Amino acid sequence: MMTTLHPILSGSPYQAYVYAYPHKTAYRAFREPLNLNEYWTRETCSNLFLYLHVPFCTMRCGFCNLFTQAMPTDSLTTLYLDALTRQAEVLRSLLPQARFSQVAIGGGTPTFLNVEQLQVLFGLLRRFDVDVSSVPSSVEVSPDTITSEKAAYLRDVGVERISIGIQSFVEQETAQSGRPQSREEVEKALQLLTDLDFPTLNIDLIYGLPNQTVESWLYSLEQALRYEPEELYLYPLYVRPLTGLGRSSKQWDDVRLACYRSARDRLLSLGYVQFSMRKFRKAKLSRDSGEYCCQRDGMLGLGCGARSYTRQLHYSLDYAVTPKSVKQIISDYLARDASSFQQAEFGFLLNEEEQRRRYLLQSILNTDGLLISDYRERFGTTPEEDFPILGTFAELGLLTRTESSWTPTSEGLERSDALGPWLFSEPVQQLMKSYELR
Ligand SMILES: C[S@@+](CC[C@H](N)C(=O)[O-])C[C@H]1O[C@@H](n2cnc3c(N)ncnc32)[C@H](O)[C@@H]1O
Ligand code: SF4
Repeated sequence: MMTTLHPILSGSPYQAYVYAYPHKTAYRAFREPLNLNEYWTRETCSNLFLYLHVPFCTMRCGFCNLFTQAMPTDSLTTLYLDALTRQAEVLRSLLPQARFSQVAIGGGTPTFLNVEQLQVLFGLLRRFDVDVSSVPSSVEVSPDTITSEKAAYLRDVGVERISIGIQSFVEQETAQSGRPQSREEVEKALQLLTDLDFPTLNIDLIYGLPNQTVESWLYSLEQALRYEPEELYLYPLYVRPLTGLGRSSKQWDDVRLACYRSARDRLLSLGYVQFSMRKFRKAKLSRDSGEYCCQRDGMLGLGCGARSYTRQLHYSLDYAVTPKSVKQIISDYLARDASSFQQAEFGFLLNEEEQRRRYLLQSILNTDGLLISDYRERFGTTPEEDFPILGTFAELGLLTRTESSWTPTSEGLERSDALGPWLFSEPVQQLMKSYELR
């Protein structure tokens, strides 16, 4: 008798990166703007995540689908910081009771800004009573923007984690991906950060790049390991229709899977701990540390590419990828008056079912997994009562049910980007499908 493979096993392992649920492409304009005060007052607000978004870079990498603008003028970045300051003032007065237990500055590339501008950013954190040196904090940097002056400033203010995008140590691979980057610049940036000895150095690498082989991928991994990073994020390359590259084939899936497996095995053999399909860390942190935040609801995002989450409401400004649309959204942001920051115009309202789904998705793809007692305490049911599909995933060898939790198996981890999208609700899938990329 012929047995047919379940589509989750026979299809591509690379469907979508479930970074957050629901995805931004499921967000829509609300019929009427929603009053933020109403949603934030329902939150506990004693343990929030503060996120600042800087949507600028020196170049637009061929593969990148993040919300960012290449080479803005000085006056644009100044106006952006002004708008960010207006937004911060409004949000602080809206949430005077809020306490933040973690902060991140991301992009784009925050270190596109100069030191004076970085000082403005960190000044905004103080408005929220955040002492950077006493909570987990993270800043994204790139080799072509980090300088010794900026790095020293970030170290001095107490930034805990520096995350640098390297992608590949092979010049030809980055050049062919639309990210021309010299090896010399890469080594200089990494040496600078290593010398300053940040508590956590994270290096981002991408596999599945044009002309990359498993050997050249492992070469890049070894080069990264020379700097003994506390953390590594290994990203399979995704190419969206509107970014510079475009390809898809079974062969590409096979290369990505082989790259993933070889790097995972190498890192595990060196004592790195795997946290998810992408994240590896030198030592495991405890659940009580700031690191453990996969089910966090409360995130306050500032800046025009940032999202914010309450339990019920996820919101952001509009989202785009093409240079023209990104510029338009940034320019609208600069023109906003203070009162408009009190409202959400664009986002997604999570009903009870979507809240459960989000909780499931944010935890089940991490090696710590989904704690059944936590789920029951929150929702009054068990995950398998709400999502009988978990039983099928267990039969397929993708998940394991222990006494206390649901965790991904090694096969489940490597198929995270297929498993996750499988758990999206029908309405979210429809919204994502009908979203028009621009
Ligand atoms: C905000 S960037 C990191 C900092 C900085 N902008 C840089 O590129 O050096 C976030 C990371 O997402 C990853 N990334 C971006 N686009 C990707 C794509 N299409 N496929 C896979 N990974 C991607 C890259 O590894 C990148 O370093
Ligand atoms: S990968 Fe980084 S540097 Fe390149 S465009 Fe995206 S955010 Fe900017």
